[in-house]
Amino acid sequence: MSNRVFNFSAGPAMLPTEVLEASAKALIDFQGKGFGIAECSHRGKEFDGVLDEAIDRCRKLLSIPDTHDVLFLQGGATQLFNTIPMNFLNGTADYVVSGEWSKKAASAAQAAYGEKIRVIATSEETKFDRPPVGWKADPGAAYLHVCSNETVHGHRLAEWPEHPNLVVDASSEMMSRPHPISRSALVYAGAQKNLGPAGVVVAIVRKDLYPRIAKSVPKIFSFQALAEAKSCLNTPPTFGIYFLLETFRWLEAQGGLTAIEKRNAEKATLVYEAIDGSGGFYKGTVADKSARSHMNVTFLLPSEELTDKFVKDAAKNGMVALKGYRTVGGIRASIYNAMPVAGAKALSDFMGTFAKASG
Ligand SMILES: Cc1ncc(COP(=O)(O)O)c(C=O)c1O
Repeated sequence: MSNRVFNFSAGPAMLPTEVLEASAKALIDFQGKGFGIAECSHRGKEFDGVLDEAIDRCRKLLSIPDTHDVLFLQGGATQLFNTIPMNFLNGTADYVVSGEWSKKAASAAQAAYGEKIRVIATSEETKFDRPPVGWKADPGAAYLHVCSNETVHGHRLAEWPEHPNLVVDASSEMMSRPHPISRSALVYAGAQKNLGPAGVVVAIVRKDLYPRIAKSVPKIFSFQALAEAKSCLNTPPTFGIYFLLETFRWLEAQGGLTAIEKRNAEKATLVYEAIDGSGGFYKGTVADKSARSHMNVTFLLPSEELTDKFVKDAAKNGMVALKGYRTVGGIRASIYNAMPVAGAKALSDFMGTFAKASG
């Protein structure tokens, strides 16, 4: 594939060319069998092998202990955050609201469970320009919910917080660095940013939570029932899971998550240096620099006109999908795992040239 551009979409997002090619091949013909991986039963030996290998590689990449199950589910991250209180709320649960996505998770839980859902900290009063700081969760809460990377606002929790039952929406940073799974109760991520096509969500769940699940929870939403059926209570997103397997193989070939983290830091530095070195032409939207996301880089230009011109000129130079989210405006450059260093370098060079020409 020679005509691919640098795609800075926030999701569904750019995916590694090698993974796309291997998955496309398996879509037409799986291991020379004359049928594709999306054309065989989820209960047959071909797909079962794919599922086992995907779970196994996911475990190895993230060092997931036996205390946790790995699930590949439908419904996206949104369904996931709706089913979390349905399964695991006993007493009250604490939510940190750091941006659009953690707000959505908290609001969905509050709509169903009212005052049992406590927003213990929010940065909404500063328009989510940083994650809230100085908060303390109740260690006795059923769980603490955080979003580790706010896709819209471009900041992250550099360190995941400590809590006996930590629940993390890691959708837009999953496997961009090693994650402390063993001290987390539940980690979930929609695939369509860092892992594969939309339609699969990865959920890593600590098994000791299962006794909390009330009998009234429909089986199709019960994490225990889904785990016992190895994600195959009904037909799982088979092609999406195959794609994940190829992504996991690719991540291993890149040197694993520590190597990926280093490369992501290098990419992020290139773009942030272009912002900080522009003499104020570009303004980062994140107030706390130590919380700047390594996945979604957000910044403003001096005017809407210049922002539109930036987006158009970048596209002419092979860099697409840079327009910021409507509530934040400006530019959002998403530089997930699949974005090569050359893409971040091309953007950073373009930013320098554009600022000089326009400033
Ligand atoms: C951090 C985060 N959480 C949740 C979601 C919702 O994901 P889905 O559309 O798969 O429900 C998104 C989507 O952009 C996201 O970025």
